[in-house]
Amino acid sequence: MNINKIAYSTFIAFVASLATLVSIQALSSSDRDAADDDALDSVTLDELAEHDGAESCWKAIHGRVYDITDYVPDHPTDEEVILEWCGRESTEGWDNKRPGVPHSARAEAMLEEYLIGRLVDDDGEPLEPEAAARAEEGDEAGDADGEPARLSPAEDERLHRALLGLPLDGHYRGVFIDRGVIQVNITFDLEDGRFTRLDYRHLAYRDDDYLAMEEDDELYPVMRQHRQILERLEGQPVTAIFALYEPERLADDIDGYSGATLRGAKIISSIRDALNRGVYSWP
Ligand code: HEM
Repeated sequence: MNINKIAYSTFIAFVASLATLVSIQALSSSDRDAADDDALDSVTLDELAEHDGAESCWKAIHGRVYDITDYVPDHPTDEEVILEWCGRESTEGWDNKRPGVPHSARAEAMLEEYLIGRLVDDDGEPLEPEAAARAEEGDEAGDADGEPARLSPAEDERLHRALLGLPLDGHYRGVFIDRGVIQVNITFDLEDGRFTRLDYRHLAYRDDDYLAMEEDDELYPVMRQHRQILERLEGQPVTAIFALYEPERLADDIDGYSGATLRGAKIISSIRDALNRGVYSWP
């Protein structure tokens, strides 16, 4: 046997023993994984969903749950990329950092430092990534079949208001127009049938644009009175608008201008216009 052959056989023996070591290691580590998983704390999708932001970010990846809150600022992308998956089943994102490209072995080793539990269903059974993702989608759409959630007719407040002819909650816009010119353009929300976030988008009479007025404008007090009216309607039920037939009930006298100066009927009219038009957009 020449020296080359000896070196070659030694090399082959070395490679073979290395391969054996590696496979023993692989086997024992998968045995250890399974045993470890049973010992891990159980985390349900609902618990996972509570940790959905930078202040506490948990992710479920391949059936295990990781608290990666401390890692988020160190991730080599913009934070939104990794924050988007907080509180969710994230196997899809983990296996596709770019489409079709999984994270490296180095990233996988880092991930294990943040292991805190295993993902389970409501019966405490391990939850596979696909089933978890389906359950999450079901939650968003309504139920596990993807059907939109439907309230019972006994509970559906929107339906009740519609049946009674009451205005629905939502965002409204309306106008008072005289001879083709908008004088009042008003916007507000209804919450539980009460006014919130009332504001003028436009308030003018002839050439006077009240919203553009400065404090030294002669009619500035009138603009303040109009603002007072909206402040005082805030939180009131829609029926409160009829007090505006006597606007001094809702606006103070300011600098000699009294309620008599105000044209409360125009505001009533613009609010009724908004209600007649119906919800402009949903909150
Ligand atoms: C599940 C949501 C995640 C998404 C969508 C995501 C996405 C990405 C992207 C776009 C890159 C950079 C592009 C590239 O290297 O090709 C990247 C790199 C990296 N990410 Fe993530 N990541 C996620 C979670 C995590 C987590 C939880 C960790 C570790 C705890 C992590 C560790 C790393 C590391 C170390 C790199 C450098 C490249 C590598 O080693 O693969 N990532 N990730």
